[in-house]
Amino acid sequence: MAKAKRLVVLVSGSGTNLQALLDAVASQGPDAYGAEIVAVGADRDGIAGLERAERAGLPTFVRRVKDYGTREEWDAALAGATGAYAPDLVVSAGFMKIVGKEFLARFGGRFVNTHPALLPSFPGAHGVRDALAYGAKVTGCTVHFVDDGVDTGPIIAQGVVEVRNEDYEDEGAALHERIKEVERKLLVDVVGRLARNGYRIEGRKVVIQ
Ligand code: GAR
Repeated sequence: MAKAKRLVVLVSGSGTNLQALLDAVASQGPDAYGAEIVAVGADRDGIAGLERAERAGLPTFVRRVKDYGTREEWDAALAGATGAYAPDLVVSAGFMKIVGKEFLARFGGRFVNTHPALLPSFPGAHGVRDALAYGAKVTGCTVHFVDDGVDTGPIIAQGVVEVRNEDYEDEGAALHERIKEVERKLLVDVVGRLARNGYRIEGRKVVIQ
């Protein structure tokens, strides 16, 4: 069995996608799953995602934009903190910041994001709300590589979720929960396959070997 790949996971909120990855590594074992989480980073303190990492005994780091003079300095600090753990793959699991040039120069092609809509529809910070406002009948989630656009990088996998009439009553909260159920399984599956099998990015097409 090949050695488990090293993952750094970035979070900004509740961290249920991070938890799904932690649970997969714990239940299958790093070698069988193909990857282990070596650190968790965030752009803010006091979030459940960091508590989940600490409960799992993992090192954490926080780099807040407001602590740096410029966005570029923050980006370089985030890249440095992430790089200190020598990751093979970096996973943005509900990380609500756009990274900059230095981060992409170091981790481009191995930086995976999960987004709560069927890209290229509804990119940005409000994927669930925007799909509802548009009146979409199906939406879902997209796991993709990050490039220098906003949610524009090559798509690795997608999951579909139907929109219900009652989803308009709570501004998409229940819809987002149904999306996240699909998303957690998809992310665990995709990260494991990328780590175990290897992959190629051919233009827009991602081929998992
Ligand atoms: C997920 O649904 C993820 O797709 C979304 O935040 C949620 C995080 O949930 N990310 C974005 O909207 C990024 N634009 P979690 O903290 O429970 O994993």
